[in-house]
Amino acid sequence: MKIIMLGAPGAGKGTQAIRIAAEYQIPHISTGDIFRSNIKNGTELGKKARAYMDQGLLVPDELTVDLVMDRLDQDDAKKGYILDGFPRTIPQAKALEKALQERGDKLDYAIDIEVPDENIVDRMSGRRACTGCGATYHIKFQPSAKGALCEICGEPLSIREDDLPETVQKRLDVYHSQTQPLIDFYKERDILRSVDGTKHVDEVFADISAILEA
Ligand code: AP5
Ligand code: MG
Repeated sequence: MKIIMLGAPGAGKGTQAIRIAAEYQIPHISTGDIFRSNIKNGTELGKKARAYMDQGLLVPDELTVDLVMDRLDQDDAKKGYILDGFPRTIPQAKALEKALQERGDKLDYAIDIEVPDENIVDRMSGRRACTGCGATYHIKFQPSAKGALCEICGEPLSIREDDLPETVQKRLDVYHSQTQPLIDFYKERDILRSVDGTKHVDEVFADISAILEA
């Protein structure tokens, strides 16, 4: 199963991708997580990516595309994967399509999680992310059973640096201008499936599972 997740910042892509990856035993590949781990480890890529991410802008395609293609060529991605946060621009989508075609391969589904902009700022202000494994919580909607620590790995939870309200607004603007056009791109290829992301996390997961099992 080869799936990509579409949706605005905070729509719940990461939340759902982690569950789908566990259910289907496929790797969850999040470009945001890869960049954040590079920032944490002080790599050259991390330094470059941070300059864009802190402003709510996209990291340039030339820093992103090769990184993802190398990841898709690793052994664990042979039987499938769930891509979260990539592609995010039409050039990225075309690069992915071309690379897959060259391998005689294609995507199965593009799942779009629909959440109106009004709900997003609330979600972002309450989000907490694990500094260890990257799992995501929400102080109101999805609290950790271990309080300020991660339920899964026990590491402390933190607020993401790009979750300040003004940065979230910039990310939403960037989403509408650069990423939303991908909805038509995948509609034309007949693999777009949309779900209502305002429902409870478990209901959204059930809706996505129904699509994948159809
Ligand atoms: P990235 O990490 O991908 O961030 P994003 O797309 O902005 O999305 P988020 O991770 O913020 O939200 P999400 O949809 O995963 O929601 P979540 O599940 O956490 O990218 C960060 C940055 O990296 C970008 O701005 C860019 O600079 C760079 N980047 C990454 N990929 C790139 C690329 N391909 N090209 C260029 N640059 C790139 O949920 C959000 C909150 O809501 C959580 O607190 C969660 O608990 C809660 N929640 C989830 N579902 C529900 C629900 N159904 N009901 C109530 N609450 C819910
Ligand atoms: Mg995410």
